[in-house]
Amino acid sequence: MLTRPSPHLVEFVKGLGGPLLILGAGGKMGPTLAALALRAAEAGGRRLEVVAVSRFTDPTGQQWLEERGIRTIRCDLLDADDVARLPDAQTIIYLVGLKFGTTQSPSITWAINTLVPARICERYPRSQIVALSTGNVYPLSEVCLGGSMESDALTPIGEYANAAVGRERIFEFYSRRHAIQVAQLRLCYAVELRYGVLVDIARKVYANASLDLSNGYFNCLWQGDANEMILRALTLAESPPSAWNLCRPEIFSVREIASRLGVLLGRSPRFMGEEGTTALLVNASRICEKLGSPALPMDVLLRWIAHWVLAGGRTLGKPTHFEVRDGRY
Ligand SMILES: NC(=O)c1ccc[n+]([C@@H]2O[C@H](COP(=O)([O-])OP(=O)(O)OC[C@H]3O[C@@H](n4cnc5c(N)ncnc54)[C@H](OP(=O)(O)O)[C@@H]3O)[C@@H](O)[C@H]2O)c1
Repeated sequence: MLTRPSPHLVEFVKGLGGPLLILGAGGKMGPTLAALALRAAEAGGRRLEVVAVSRFTDPTGQQWLEERGIRTIRCDLLDADDVARLPDAQTIIYLVGLKFGTTQSPSITWAINTLVPARICERYPRSQIVALSTGNVYPLSEVCLGGSMESDALTPIGEYANAAVGRERIFEFYSRRHAIQVAQLRLCYAVELRYGVLVDIARKVYANASLDLSNGYFNCLWQGDANEMILRALTLAESPPSAWNLCRPEIFSVREIASRLGVLLGRSPRFMGEEGTTALLVNASRICEKLGSPALPMDVLLRWIAHWVLAGGRTLGKPTHFEVRDGRY
């Protein structure tokens, strides 16, 4: 389901310039994004070369991609010689990032989030790039305002969030300097059955653990929809770069979602603390207007996640730490 293309995507990929390079493909989103692009091309009778680039710290991701006919290249994108050897590409999806562990090693976080974009823009001055950013580039906002808009000031707290602002600014600098077409997508947050804020909530509810309500509201998006919108966002790339919030159009309450999952899991959720009036929230109305609203209904996603938890399905072991309000990851 994560890699099943919609008819809309199949049509879009027919006109896509190849090869399609996916940078930072070894993480949570890259493998399913690459497979989705390839399946869309195959469904449209198109031969599209999809190239997945990462260090592949987790070699199972590389093997999974190769088994599906996706060419992989092992590469440390901090290394200028490695980057110089990458194949030419007309279109690039940029997924590289570092979030967790920032508090312990801020310098690595800054290097990966700002030096790598510079290397890539210098290597690919004529490509079209969709660069993933994050809703963390905004400060917390009043829940009643409906989430930060793209025109709001990027004044977050914490080293990771500021390094993510740095990542955007480096792309902007090169986009303006070389007229590179770039769309920056401020994702907030992808969810599938093996990770994501809904999985974190569901697992706590099932384990009868208390849920912290201090960050009481959140955004999210089924990763299949996120990947589809990321690919179609190539049409939004321009110079100077455009910026788009990416998530479902609704704001969700931790308390309400936990209660709905509680019904599906046969548990009564436990809570601690109270909801504050602010949370890390974005408003995705602009991208939904451009590309259409995400296809998968929320109640279906909640049923899938509850079923996965009840069935003992595996997780990636990567909690989102969505409770964090002080920017320390
Ligand atoms: N998933 C979400 O919910 C979410 C939410 C907000 C924003 N985002 C943004 O979307 C992007 C993709 O998300 P994701 O969840 O797939 O992130 P992720 O799991 O952190 O994957 C990014 C991958 O980039 C690769 N990478 C890091 N440094 C590298 C280097 N020096 N050279 C080559 N590859 C490198 C790493 O894979 P290797 O170890 O294999 O190199 C890493 O797993 C991220 O950059 C993030 O900022 C994601």
